[in-house]
Amino acid sequence: MALLEIRDLDAGYGDLQILDGVDMDVGSEAYVAIVGPNGAGKSTVMKSVFGLTTYMGGSIEFDGEEISGLGPSEIITRGLSYVPQSDNVFAGLTVRENLEMGAYTLDGVPESRVEAVFERFPILEERQGQRAGSLSGGQQQMLAMGRALMLDPDLLLLDEPSAGLAPDLVAEMFDRIDEINEAGTAVLMVEQNAKEALRRCDRGYVLVQGQNRHEDTGRALLDDERVRADFLGG
Ligand SMILES: Nc1ncnc2c1ncn2[C@@H]1O[C@H](COP(=O)(O)OP(=O)(O)OP(=O)(O)O)[C@@H](O)[C@H]1O
Ligand SMILES: [Mg+2]
Repeated sequence: MALLEIRDLDAGYGDLQILDGVDMDVGSEAYVAIVGPNGAGKSTVMKSVFGLTTYMGGSIEFDGEEISGLGPSEIITRGLSYVPQSDNVFAGLTVRENLEMGAYTLDGVPESRVEAVFERFPILEERQGQRAGSLSGGQQQMLAMGRALMLDPDLLLLDEPSAGLAPDLVAEMFDRIDEINEAGTAVLMVEQNAKEALRRCDRGYVLVQGQNRHEDTGRALLDDERVRADFLGG
């Protein structure tokens, strides 16, 4: 049994259906990427898993339990954290306050979790008293990821973690994600930087117009001529 099992999922916004029969699996400790053209519904998959879209049919099981129809505040307590594509930090709060927000479902904020996040992202410790809005794009992305790690989730949903970063920072961001995954957290990631994502992940899905188009190991998708021609620039 996979940690996350999405079956025949239909979802969208109000009356507007975007996802049409989507199937995806993420095993425990797996590293899975979703790639595809702009507007394909990649972010909508992530939002649907986290309870932020209109559910229209199918099922989403996490750790063997149905979570479709639950809201984010319930879902997060089950071991699933989500880093949105944009606006993913509280700009007016300090770095430390942002991290503390990540543990708002707990009675108190365990200092050991803050320390664990600082260990993974030393820059956040250095900048802990600074307002999040004053950080660079890459640092804000690390803060958003740090906040999502505060509850030590079993599955981390990352929507475009490398978007807008300079090339050297893109590599660093991917290295960080690799480390998080190697430490035992399953990762489901949407990436515009499809080649790099497929090189690193165990499994990938190509989503087109709200439907599964291809699914295979990252390596096989990279080598698949149809995928290369359509999405990877030949
Ligand atoms: N809040 C919303 N209300 C209505 N329609 C939306 C909303 N968010 C997204 N959509 C629509 O859903 C479709 C899929 O959008 P989505 O953001 O999931 O695509 P994506 O694959 O993540 O694209 P990108 O690569 O540009 O991030 C698009 O047609 C978009 O206009
Ligand atoms: Mg998106």
